[in-house]
Amino acid sequence: MEIIKKNKFPLVAIVAVSRDFIIGDGNKMLWHLPNDLKRLKSITLGNPLIMGRKTFDSIGKPLSGRANIILTNKKNLKDNIQFDKYFVQSFEDAVIKANDWINKKFKKNEQNTKNIFIFGGGEIYKLALNFCSQIELTLVDVNLKKGVSFPFIDKKKWKKKMIQKVEGNESYPSHSFWVYNRK
Ligand SMILES: NC(=O)c1ccc[n+]([C@@H]2O[C@H](COP(=O)([O-])OP(=O)(O)OC[C@H]3O[C@@H](n4cnc5c(N)ncnc54)[C@H](OP(=O)(O)O)[C@@H]3O)[C@@H](O)[C@H]2O)c1
Repeated sequence: MEIIKKNKFPLVAIVAVSRDFIIGDGNKMLWHLPNDLKRLKSITLGNPLIMGRKTFDSIGKPLSGRANIILTNKKNLKDNIQFDKYFVQSFEDAVIKANDWINKKFKKNEQNTKNIFIFGGGEIYKLALNFCSQIELTLVDVNLKKGVSFPFIDKKKWKKKMIQKVEGNESYPSHSFWVYNRK
């Protein structure tokens, strides 16, 4: 784990949370926010994503233009290099795989802007948040009371800044984009 703390590429959590920090019901997301999906794509494209097997199953397919690194305890799942889908069995192996993918795919001068995105869900955020230097957070203006939650963000350790607010309509609730940087 010491290796991860000093990792060359920053670990950045990316998440959408309700006001009470719920992220999903265990199977799927609880809202459909077109602006958030666009933002998520533009931020993560060309970078590796680390996600739990349940989150991968809920998405249903690898996200293109990104490495899809999936944590699982199952031993029989096969990588698919063509679609950049890789299974790993520990968080450390996930970070090693993400580093290797960037190193193989991009020249040295292209690597400066690369991040490793922690893509959820709840179990993976819990494993990874202590190692993240940044959180890209979408705050959705709803209260959900129950479901899978994002770990507690200690205000003493993080500085947050709002980037944009999106008004809701009949299709989706109001939400805002925030960046948290570790102090
Ligand atoms: N709002 C958001 O931004 C957002 C983002 C992502 C996901 N989500 C939501 O989050 C929910 C899923 O979260 P979740 O916490 O239930 O599941 P998860 O974190 O997506 O996946 C959990 C699975 O990851 C594997 N895993 C976890 N720790 C591991 C370790 N140390 N070593 C090896 N494998 C490990 C296990 O897979 P195996 O069972 O295969 O062993 C485990 O069952 C869904 O509702 C999804 O929609 C929301």
